[in-house]
Formats: sequence, structure tokens, C-alpha cells
Amino acid sequence: MIALDLLLRWIHIFGAIMLVGSTIFMRCAYVPAKADVDGDLDANFVESLRKRWSFLVMISSGQLLVSGLIGFVLLMKNFDISKDAFPGSAYHMIFGIKFLLAFVVFFLAAALSGRSGLAQKLREREKTWLTVNMVLAITVVCFAGMMRLADRSEKSTSSLPQAVPSVANVHELTSTPDGP
Ligand code: HEM
Repeated sequence: MIALDLLLRWIHIFGAIMLVGSTIFMRCAYVPAKADVDGDLDANFVESLRKRWSFLVMISSGQLLVSGLIGFVLLMKNFDISKDAFPGSAYHMIFGIKFLLAFVVFFLAAALSGRSGLAQKLREREKTWLTVNMVLAITVVCFAGMMRLADRSEKSTSSLPQAVPSVANVHELTSTPDGP
């Protein structure tokens, strides 16, 4: 199971790197560089960049969603989240908020890199929407960091039935092999 956990973790982390990293690149490198250039950028270049970013967004959103869902189901099945240490019982609420924010991030990234009418509308205020999506994506990573902090114990070891002495076996436990 450790191999599956590791594989899911790698897929999730590389998905996050691609989606969050490319959004930060678009907002902090592409948009300011475009503003530095006199006149419009070459339309072929802009279209080619859009297509390539759209591909990255599609791959990374897919891998984040699949690895995140499987990872969460396995986590709930195999581990107990400690209520004593941070984030304690808020773990599930943090997951819920992260999940909802992630969908907004997927949607905005797909819309900003897409070809639809909505995409064209959003691109008219590209800088604003990229800023919104970058902040949301970073917030999702911060929420993930809080979830990772949660203290957890494996269910298989912590929930093994304990041997409870009963009237039926107390004689066995106290008698010696040579006794009456
Ligand atoms: C914008 C989208 C997302 C980003 C940037 C993101 C980022 C991350 C990061 C950086 C981690 C920590 C990974 C590690 O240290 O192993 C993580 C953990 C996790 N993510 Fe995501 N994630 C996203 C979407 C999702 C979605 C959609 C789900 C569920 C359907 C999900 C479920 C999880 C789970 C279950 C963990 C493990 C938490 C724990 O160990 O307590 N994530 N995420």
C-alpha cells in the first residue's frame, strides 16, 4: 500500500506544481512582459502559448482531482485523524473548503486558457482574473499544508480488538500448568 500512497502523493504534488506554478508564471512573468512590449504581441505566439498552457491545465487538474479523491478515500479508510493536535476536528472542514476552492481554481484556469466566449471575456481582464486565481491556488496549497500537519494513526494497529479478561478465561490466565 505504501507504493500506492507514494505514487498518489507524487502525482498530486506534480499536479500542484504544474497548475499553481503555471498560474504564477502567467500572472507574474507573462502579463508584465506583455505590458513591457510596445504594441500587440504576435497573434500566433499568443495562440500557441494559450494552447500549451491549456494542455498543462487539463493534465494537472485531472491528476489533482483523481489523486486527491483516491488519496482522501484511502486516508479515511486507513487512518484516524487525532482530535487533540491541530487541526483536530477542523480537518474535514479544511478539506471541504480546499475541495471547493480547488474547483474554482480548475474552472478559472480552464476558462483563462480556453477558447470559449467566456474565456475571451475573462481575458479582457486577464490580469485581474489571473491575480484572483493565483491567490486562490496559493490558498489551496496553504490549506493542504494544514491538512498535512494533522496527527494521524493507522486504523489497523490502533483499532485491533484488545484481549479483555473475562470470567471465562480468568482461570486460564491465573492457573499454573501443574495446578488443580
Ligand atoms: C488546485 C488544486 C489542488 C492543489 C494545488 C492541491 C495541493 C495539495 C498539496 C500541495 C498537498 C500536500 C501534498 C503532500 O505533502 O503530500 C495536498 C494534499 C492533499 N490533497 Fe490536494 N490539492 C488540490 C486539489 C485537491 C483535490 C481536488 C482533492 C480531493 C478531491 C485534494 C485532496 C488532497 C488530500 C486528501 C491531500 C492529503 C492531505 C493529508 O495528508 O492530510 N486536493 N494537496
